[in-house]
Amino acid sequence: MSIRTGSIYVYNQGNMTQLLTTPSEHPKQENIKIAAQALRAGKLVAFPTETVYGLGANALDETAVRGIFSAKGRPSADPLIVHLTGVDQLPRVAHSVSPTALRLAEAFWPGPLTLILSRRPEVAPSVSAGLNTLAVRVPAHPVALALLRAADVPVAAPSANRFGHTSPTTAQHVLADLDGRVDVILDGGATPIGVESTVLDVSTNPPRILRPGGLTREQIESVIGPVSFGPQSETAEAGLPSPGLLKVHYAPRAELVLFNGENAPAAMLAALTEIKATGRTVGVLVTDEEAQAFESAGARVYCLGPGADLSHVARRLYAGMRHLDTLEVDVILAHDFGVQGLGLAIRDRLTKAASRVTEP
Ligand code: TXA
Ligand code: MG
Repeated sequence: MSIRTGSIYVYNQGNMTQLLTTPSEHPKQENIKIAAQALRAGKLVAFPTETVYGLGANALDETAVRGIFSAKGRPSADPLIVHLTGVDQLPRVAHSVSPTALRLAEAFWPGPLTLILSRRPEVAPSVSAGLNTLAVRVPAHPVALALLRAADVPVAAPSANRFGHTSPTTAQHVLADLDGRVDVILDGGATPIGVESTVLDVSTNPPRILRPGGLTREQIESVIGPVSFGPQSETAEAGLPSPGLLKVHYAPRAELVLFNGENAPAAMLAALTEIKATGRTVGVLVTDEEAQAFESAGARVYCLGPGADLSHVARRLYAGMRHLDTLEVDVILAHDFGVQGLGLAIRDRLTKAASRVTEP
């Protein structure tokens, strides 16, 4: 294989990972074509979406889909999301789409909403981990859409991380986790939303949020009225054997302690002093406004952006966990941002990453 412009080959574990760069707004067609051909040939392609990077395979190719599970080290009982170019492709993968599902799809696709629908038999059974239902979404990222159009097949894609790690928001994160385990990585820069899509089960009345994400509960309710949200988010539907498996789903390497409630920043500062006194190093995930106080108290600080704008916090959350891990801190301290808007998804991810949650 020759090295093309804009591509880097990385050699590891006997396999090649081809890294292809593309501008995010105007995808480089030459690289899109290479990635699309790889998908059609049954290979694994990581690509940016508006939420996080996905690890894609042709959803109609059972062998290719199984490759996703082995590359990630993901339990086969945990089903995947199928990505489409638009609502018009729904009949290829799902049947009997309800009026509620259609209204949501029309309102929010392309966008960070995943709908649980009924699976057509053409879709590889591994995609749904043997269930009759199927998770489907249309991503709002020019590179993802260009790839899906060029490949012209539905693409099954979980987040492109090793099982148990935080989801990747840059191609470098993908490479750190899956070097030598994925055939192609399309590098379209950092993903704009930073947390995964909202997963909604529309088969129940009212519909139920299985995983809060980039589309807020308020946005969904503005179109279809009240929806429910269960704390057990993903486990029941996914048929996972134990909620414990999900406990580590979005975890950094360091021990993460989460502080919830009004006085969280003050409680974090006190904890920082205590932990430092035991000789351990501490990293903190804080807003721009809080940074100075934590820096002075001797923490390694990662700024999540202005506290008033949760879109910044969501965008930088996973990158922050990965950054503090590369600094090899022993403990990460973080606090939540309530349950309004993106706060719900941020709290969910922090809770899953935490070894300990401190309530006021
Ligand atoms: O933003 C996202 O959703 C990203 C990008 C790449 O699209 N993908 C992603 O995939 O986060 P993954 O595999 O990490 O998460 C898929 C979620 C899991 O919570 C899984 O349990 C749920 O979707 N899911 C998939 N199929 C399901 C089904 N048939 N019923 C219930 N939940 C399902
Ligand atoms: Mg994931």
